[in-house]
Amino acid sequence: MKRKVVSTLLCAAMVSTMLVGCGGGADNAASGDAAATEEGGDAAEGGTITVGFSQVGAESDWRTANSESMKSTFSEENGYELIFDDAQQKQENQITAIRNFIQQEVDYIVLAPVTETGWDTVLQEAKDADIPVIIVDRMVDVSDDSLYTAWVGSNFELEGKKACAWLNAYAEAKGMDEINIVDIQGTIGASAQIGRTKGLEDAAAEYGWNILAMQTGEFTQAKGQEVMESMLKQYDNINVVYCENDNEAFGAIDAIEAAGKTVGPDGDILVMSFDTTKAGITDTLDGKIICNTECNPLHGPRVEEIIKKLEAGEEVEKQAYVEEGIFAHGGDVAEVEIDGEKFEVTEVTQEVIDARAY
Ligand code: AHR
Repeated sequence: MKRKVVSTLLCAAMVSTMLVGCGGGADNAASGDAAATEEGGDAAEGGTITVGFSQVGAESDWRTANSESMKSTFSEENGYELIFDDAQQKQENQITAIRNFIQQEVDYIVLAPVTETGWDTVLQEAKDADIPVIIVDRMVDVSDDSLYTAWVGSNFELEGKKACAWLNAYAEAKGMDEINIVDIQGTIGASAQIGRTKGLEDAAAEYGWNILAMQTGEFTQAKGQEVMESMLKQYDNINVVYCENDNEAFGAIDAIEAAGKTVGPDGDILVMSFDTTKAGITDTLDGKIICNTECNPLHGPRVEEIIKKLEAGEEVEKQAYVEEGIFAHGGDVAEVEIDGEKFEVTEVTQEVIDARAY
């Protein structure tokens, strides 16, 4: 079902974006009031809502969980037609997908952008076609915020800060006198990479850590392993590897063990990670991953809430961060403090793993 009149009015409402106080760093709201008043939404009418979702790819366990969350939420039985496009980690594929969605006159475009920049032109095309765009997971860096309706995702820089605050506290507790760290980065230019790398760089400057090398592992296990193998050949004094997601950590652990070194609290190298997938925190229980900072992939219901609000003509937060925790092996660090705010650290147990949905 297409709603040209609704979308036009919605965009008009968005231009006069209101400022509201929102939790978790959200600071703007877009209103769909005009849409509801004039026509009512498709959900209210009981019609099918067509959603075009441009997904980054299938590079990680996190991404698989994210795709499943979107597919199970935007199902036929829930009243949606989902057009799912896997971009295989290529921005050009995402741009093509968005153009196809515009041609198909979908009701909403949902974009999980591979990198932050390069979206202005295609998002302007979506705006010209009066199709609301919801950004999910990573962020876009656009010259005009009205090119998207709302964003929901993670505070990646805070994730990096949490991980590094934990490492600093752990190093103090264990009397580690030197941190010689390598960073297996995510896809360069992705918000998840930018934020996590910045968290590390800032902490290294503050605490005097030596960053020996930084190289992208593209968020995949295979590349994580390859990069770790090469770093181990170049440096024999690595005592921490900061992997920017779980799959890179799995690859790094394989490379370290294949090189005859050990991981874990009593081993040669501490492995840090992000995501806290079930497999990731299973390695955390074993100590193979010493600290795992959460990045929550279950965005389907969050995006649906935005769409439902827009359909009902209600305001939506322009930007909303999801709440995420810190998970560690052992209880050496109970909490960390970042910019005056305290964050509890969860010690991973079998119960924690059993409760993990992805
Ligand atoms: O943008 C979220 C990141 O992308 C996750 O950490 C990673 O696993 C995924 O590929």
